[in-house]
Amino acid sequence: MVNKQFFVSHRYILPIQNEGRNTERFLAPRLFSCSSHIRNHTVYKKEETMQLEGKTALITGASSGIGRATAKLFARRGANVIVSARRTAELSILVSEIRNEGGQAEALAGSVSDEGLAGDLVSLAKDKFGGLDIAFNNAGTLGAMGSLPEVTPDGWRETIETNLTGAYLGARAQIPALLERTGSSLIFTSTFVGYTAGFPGMSAYAAAKAGVIGLMKNLASEYAPEGLRVNALLPGATNTPMGQSVAAEPDVKAYIEGIHGLKRQAQPEEVAQAALFLASNQSSFVTGHALLVDGGVSIYKA
Ligand SMILES: NC(=O)c1ccc[n+]([C@@H]2O[C@H](COP(=O)([O-])OP(=O)(O)OC[C@H]3O[C@@H](n4cnc5c(N)ncnc54)[C@H](OP(=O)(O)O)[C@@H]3O)[C@@H](O)[C@H]2O)c1
Repeated sequence: MVNKQFFVSHRYILPIQNEGRNTERFLAPRLFSCSSHIRNHTVYKKEETMQLEGKTALITGASSGIGRATAKLFARRGANVIVSARRTAELSILVSEIRNEGGQAEALAGSVSDEGLAGDLVSLAKDKFGGLDIAFNNAGTLGAMGSLPEVTPDGWRETIETNLTGAYLGARAQIPALLERTGSSLIFTSTFVGYTAGFPGMSAYAAAKAGVIGLMKNLASEYAPEGLRVNALLPGATNTPMGQSVAAEPDVKAYIEGIHGLKRQAQPEEVAQAALFLASNQSSFVTGHALLVDGGVSIYKA
């Protein structure tokens, strides 16, 4: 019995690690021939795997990096996904990949600084999938870098516009739809920069992203009585086009990896797992939280 259980568990864990829906479907019928003890175990694994089934998630900044990895993970966990960013070709490829795996995805391109786009994305979620359960306002840019006197007012405004005003515009359009559902979740992507650590030359980015945390905490207090949970993800350095642009020089890369307790950058798929936690009912009592996914940068906080 012990051996058989191990065999079944082991077989079933593999597709979970693969994140492949097709593999899960292929294996599922075989498992119904197992004993009731093992069948219960299987049902548990299935629920764990498909924890966003029947939900619709909107993800901005989905054309690359963390947003792209999150869209794929959410779709594999059963969510219908609406993906957005400015680059249409990248979004089309993402939608095709999700559909090829048996998932449901729609894309709408545009800038998060466009108030009209924020409303159109919510309308798309309602038209195609009947509503909105999860909104992940993840789009971001490093924006104007340099010592503060070097940051022009236009550069400053643009950085705030994408990172903070974009989050506000998204949330403003999404909240009424999220309130129509039970168990809904509003998530923002902030960063550890400007929260647990400061870095020369990143003032505009840090200010915008710290603003996102303030926005999140206030919205959490406003909507907790109505059951809407609001949280923020604070990734450490992550191996995405943005992360690679910061760590382009080998000595800078080594420095960045060195400030992380785990002595490496995150892969976007690791950050996506934290977004999944905040999106799913597994975080049903978590709201108003700034969740560090920073590989231990904050271990060294004074
Ligand atoms: N990588 C890191 O080390 C790190 C660490 C902490 C936090 N973060 C945050 O994580 C989030 C995702 O970044 P990433 O690391 O995944 O970088 P990334 O691969 O460069 O992705 C950034 C995403 O934001 C989108 N975007 C940028 N400006 C936009 C705009 N005005 N309108 C709509 N979409 C826009 C980009 O798409 P288009 O260019 O197609 O518009 C892209 O999909 C950002 O908020 C970033 O600040 C990243």
